[in-house]
Amino acid sequence: MNGFSAEWLALREPIDHRSINEELRAELLAWVGQRAHVRIADLGSGSGSNLRGLAPLLPKSQHWRLMDHDEALLDHANLAITAWADEFAGDDDRISVRIKDKKLTLDFVQADLADEPAAVFEEPLDLVTAAAFFDLVSEEWVDGFCRELAARKLPLYAVLTYDGTETWTPPHEADAAMLAAFHAHQGRDKGFGPAAGPQAAAILRRALERHGYRVSTGDSPWLLEAPNRSLIAELAKGSAAAVRETGQVAPEQVEAWLTARREASACEIGHIDLFALPA
Ligand SMILES: C[S@@+](CC[C@H](N)C(=O)[O-])C[C@H]1O[C@@H](n2cnc3c(N)ncnc32)[C@H](O)[C@@H]1O
Repeated sequence: MNGFSAEWLALREPIDHRSINEELRAELLAWVGQRAHVRIADLGSGSGSNLRGLAPLLPKSQHWRLMDHDEALLDHANLAITAWADEFAGDDDRISVRIKDKKLTLDFVQADLADEPAAVFEEPLDLVTAAAFFDLVSEEWVDGFCRELAARKLPLYAVLTYDGTETWTPPHEADAAMLAAFHAHQGRDKGFGPAAGPQAAAILRRALERHGYRVSTGDSPWLLEAPNRSLIAELAKGSAAAVRETGQVAPEQVEAWLTARREASACEIGHIDLFALPA
């Protein structure tokens, strides 16, 4: 599995959904209130996990713009959403689906948001959301994005932003060195300039507050145990690969850590959810 393969996103989807911070989601739903229709952009939408988690809770009529630079993931999202829906109609770029009593129209928008951040705001919106996306972007990108968001007085619901905390059980002597190297890799350019990585939620909060937003955050950790063995193993593999690229940990130490971690009995990975409302 590579970085954002459909297989990796499918493996994490049920864990992502159960990890969402309930209080923050209640704040979002209070904002939704009696609205009959919402128009939403989902940044870095991958194969549509964020939509599958949120759409059943939102108003009966919804329009989604699923935005990603990866065309294969957008195609995968289209297939996965039509398979999940009770009914669907449409073609490659725009579909209509019914999920129980909800009617959704969806646009699949292929856009490199690093190069064309303005693409987010090309059409009228009520809400911007993203899942596991903001740790990829740079502080400079966050500043520009928040300026445009604030100019349109749009709320932001950004969930599952990695916060840099990891606790593996049982502990391993290389944990601290591996985590430090992993964070160094997290800060590398992921296409948007030096990535915010574990600082992303704090950077986002500061930028939004500068524009007068009221920002709430809450924890949404992955709590993984024996039944999540395949996700634990993939996570360990991905971390080890990132650490190898940094060259900061001796190769034999990386291998010893990976062997132990594939068999870890539990692991907690910290994330932060954020909901921000304009003044
Ligand atoms: C960790 S995945 C999260 C996917 C999805 N939101 C989810 O929760 O399953 C990050 C997503 O950001 C997308 N992405 C990365 N760089 C991007 C860019 N420059 N423009 C648009 N999307 C990008 C990736 O293709 C991937 O789908």
